[in-house]
Order: sequence, then structure tokens, then C-alpha cells
Amino acid sequence: MEEKFQVGPDFPKLLDNNDPLGHFKQRFYIREGVIYMCGNSLGLASKDAEEGLLNAIEKWKEEGVKIWTVDDSKYYLYSSYLARLLVPIVGADEDEIAVTNTTTTNIHQVISTFYKPTSTKYKILVDDINFPTDRYAIESQVRLKGYDPKDAVKVVESINGKFLNEDDVIDAMSPDVAIVFLPAVYYRTAQVVDMEKVTNAAKERDILIGWDLCHAVGVLELDLKKLDSDFAVWCNYKYLNGGPGSAAALYINRKHFNLLPGMAGWFGNKSETQFLLRQEFDHQKDAGGWQIGTPNIFSMAPLEGALKMFKEAGISNIRKKSLHITKYLMYLIEAKLTKYGFTIGSYKEDSKRGGHVCLQHDEGYRISLALKDRKVVSDFRDPNVIRVTPTALYTSYSDVYEMVDILIDVMEKQSYLNFSLKLNLVV
Ligand SMILES: Cc1ncc(COP(=O)(O)O)c(C=O)c1O
Repeated sequence: MEEKFQVGPDFPKLLDNNDPLGHFKQRFYIREGVIYMCGNSLGLASKDAEEGLLNAIEKWKEEGVKIWTVDDSKYYLYSSYLARLLVPIVGADEDEIAVTNTTTTNIHQVISTFYKPTSTKYKILVDDINFPTDRYAIESQVRLKGYDPKDAVKVVESINGKFLNEDDVIDAMSPDVAIVFLPAVYYRTAQVVDMEKVTNAAKERDILIGWDLCHAVGVLELDLKKLDSDFAVWCNYKYLNGGPGSAAALYINRKHFNLLPGMAGWFGNKSETQFLLRQEFDHQKDAGGWQIGTPNIFSMAPLEGALKMFKEAGISNIRKKSLHITKYLMYLIEAKLTKYGFTIGSYKEDSKRGGHVCLQHDEGYRISLALKDRKVVSDFRDPNVIRVTPTALYTSYSDVYEMVDILIDVMEKQSYLNFSLKLNLVV
């Protein structure tokens, strides 16, 4: 792939012609004229995902309750089936992954499992710029154990509310810290945290560590086996294109399979004895044992098609293109947009940048509305961040070029001034 970029309109066409992943775009549903730059929030529907869902509906229509047992009990064991497809994406063993619940529920699940506070080791170390649901879940788990979050939730301060300094996290790993829980990639700036450094530091201090991989999965080349953290959670609807509210996932390091889940339910029982319906919980000693209730098949089935497409494309090719196309976007921003007051709020270094570019402007909200009006879908995060996500599988270099052109037009005509400053319900 080209490394030296050019500002002209022919250059993106050249890049598109040499893009080994370019052909995947035609398998996605993209409305005529729309430039979709929001895969960091909700990935697009693909024909592959649709087929996964339609297959499940067909089985239900044909088989009724037998949907659970046909095809070697594929749908009864659907979490394991999808876990197999996630192996190359997250680098864990199949039995260390469960596809289940929502991310937030899974945070409750892992924290309630691993948080066993004592009088001397009872704090959970977090940061102050993570997506807030993580904090809400952790604080409520701390309260459930009888502690005051003001004391038991230790918060590492970020740099200017934007970036995390890994050394600050490590400095905060005092002997009273029981668990560290952090995101691998920040939802606002796309900063990639040095997971290895932080994980190793936690382990050296006898502290358990877990990661929120929501903005990392499907973008970074993850290797959970090598990382050897204690647990992780992630959603499957962003870069993995599993559909709105698709079932999330959790990772339990196999050294913890003997732990009892904090929130047990009958789908965490051993599959062999589940239907004996005994009153005693017979824990499945793998990540599947952290499932709770009946799998939400229709929230999982699109993921089957979406993950098969990822397998076909290969996560290393996806990371390579994602880095290249976001670099091209940043190049165009610097060449053409800085004069309108835009700045880049993401790291430029490949190793520190996830899948989106954080574009900052004081009028970010109205500009994002003006973009939507011009069929460019991005999103806005208060106070001044427009998140722009060219994805590896369905964004072309020409899309990026065109988006920047539209942005120039919006700024030249000041058309963003026609929009209200009142925040919409979903931004
Ligand atoms: C880092 C992070 N964690 C969690 C969530 C949301 O979790 P849930 O799937 O439970 O809505 C998000 C949503 O954007 C997120 O960015």
C-alpha cells in the first residue's frame, strides 16, 4: 500500500484500486449516496449478517422448539459456536469466550465474580474517561458488597480529560487495590492503551485485571492468551457488525474456570446436566459457565454471518487497512481542514490509535448535524468531538476524500449555522 499521500482527487481512486479488502463493501447495505463513518458506534448490516439471522428464523419456523437440538444442537450451544469464530479475532481459546448478555451485564458478571474485597484489599482501580456504563456497573457492585464507591473505587486522573498515562495507572496500583478495570481503546480519542504494560504491572502486584475491549475488538490484533489478563468483556455491534444490541461477549482466563460466577443462571450449568433441572448449580467449568439465561438467538445470529466475513478478511488485513485509511483521513484533515479550526484529537502513532479519528471543533455538534444533512453519518461526543470512522470492510478511500470535500463545503458556506444547538436524544 502507498505510504506517501497526495491531496488530489485521483489519489483515493488509486488507493481503492489497490485495496485488497475493497470488494467486501458490496456485501454491506449502504444507502445510495450515504457515506457511513459511524462503525465505531454501530456497524452496518451486511448480507452475511442478514443470512445468519434469516437462517435462525427459518429454523424456528421449521422446527419450533426443536430449533435447540437440530444441527448438532447448534443453537443450544450457540455461544460456543460463535466463540469459535471469535478465536482469531481476540486470540483466546474457544472455551475462554462466551457470547452472551450485554457488555454492561457482563461487567456486572465479571466484577461480581472477581471482586472479593478484604479489609486490606478492597479497591477497584478505574479511570475518569472511560465510557460511563463501566463506572456505573462497578460502583453498584462495590455498593452491593457493602463498600462506599467514594472510598473503594479508586480513580486515576487522565491527562486533560483526554488521554490515559499508563504510568499513572501503575503508580496508583497500591496494595489495597484488588482489581484494575480499564478500556483497551478510548471511545472518544481512540487512544490505544498499552495493555501488556498495565497487565504485567498488575500481575506483579498481585492485582486482578480485566479489560473492556468494546472499541478494540475487530480493529486491533488482540492476543488475549499472550496478554494473560484475568477477564475481559466486549460488545459485538461496533466494528464486528453484529447488529444493534447484538449479544456481547466475555473472556474468562482458564485459570479461573473453577470460580463460581457472581451471577449464576441455568445456562451456566453444565450442558450435560442442565436439563436434569436440579436445584444444585452444576457449574460449567469454562467461560460458557458465565452465561445466565436462555441465549438471545436473534441477537446472536447476525453475528454468525458477520464473524465469518471477518474470518475471510483476516484481522491483520483489517488492522492494516484501518490504520492506513485513518492515516489518510488525518493527512487530509491536516492538509485541508485545519484552516477552518479543526484539530485532530487522536494519536498519530499507529500503535496508539484505534479505529476512529477524533476530529475536534468548537462547533462540532452543529457540524455533525450538517454532515448528516449531507448524508455523511458520523457522531458527536460532547463538548467538541466528531468521531469519524472509516472502516476496513465498507469504507473506500474515495468515501474519505468525498467526506472531507463535503466538510469543506459545510465550512465555506457555514451551513452548520442553520442547525439548532439543542442536543438530540441520540447524538
Ligand atoms: C467502552 C464501552 N463499554 C460499554 C459500552 C456499552 O455497553 P452495552 O453493550 O452494555 O450497551 C460502550 C458503548 O458504546 C462502550 O463504548
